Amino acid sequence: MKKITIAIDGFSSCGKSTMAKDLARSVGYIYVDTGAMYRAVTLYAMRHNMFNTDGTVKVDDLEKAMADIHISFELNGKTGRNDTFLNGEDVEDDIRSMAVAGHVSPIAAVPFVRKAMVVQQQAMGTKKGIVMDGRDIGTTVFPEAELKIFVTASPMVRAERRYAELKGKGLKVNFNDILKNVEERDYIDTHREVSPLRKADDAIELDNSNMTIEEQREWLLEKFRLATNQH
Ligand code: DC
Repeated sequence: MKKITIAIDGFSSCGKSTMAKDLARSVGYIYVDTGAMYRAVTLYAMRHNMFNTDGTVKVDDLEKAMADIHISFELNGKTGRNDTFLNGEDVEDDIRSMAVAGHVSPIAAVPFVRKAMVVQQQAMGTKKGIVMDGRDIGTTVFPEAELKIFVTASPMVRAERRYAELKGKGLKVNFNDILKNVEERDYIDTHREVSPLRKADDAIELDNSNMTIEEQREWLLEKFRLATNQH
């Protein structure tokens, strides 16, 4: 069967990655988490003191460093996870911290950062057979993708999911901090100048606030079957 490109975009913590990963595994496609790439750049910037005290980015310093930031993904044989590597170091756990989540939006709003990430993402998708999740995949990275999904869920539901996820990892977290972070990221992600988060005109919207993972899986597989039959 002919392979297609699948773009899954949507708000933070709405279960995009779980859906996308699951679909990729079921249909034997490559999965790419583009949020992890912006998070890895953020971790690099934090480690190299590239934030001003007001939380803005030291853009000139970051621009000089861009050539030294290498991001890759590798399947972890022990956990079965697709881990994110920053300059050869496995940073999968570090990039999921609240500290990184709190700094990533301004990094993802920097035009040269986006440009560099989009170039890498497009290179990963030249052979199709890929499921990529993010914010601008259907609008900017792969505007020609055969299947585009735009996922939403209410901020409350998303904060609850994120809370459960972090608690499950044994982290000490405060629900209100998480809700605030979700709302702040929504605002910055939808209002930035370059590639703001928005639904592509030809994307199919999915509000999964009241859906189980199993129901989402079925829904997505059906869309996949329809898209592959059409192309
Ligand atoms: O999906 P996530 O929560 O891991 O994404 C982290 C941040 O990166 C989020 O604030 C939005 C940003 N992002 C983006 O701007 N473009 C993408 N394609 C993916 C993520």
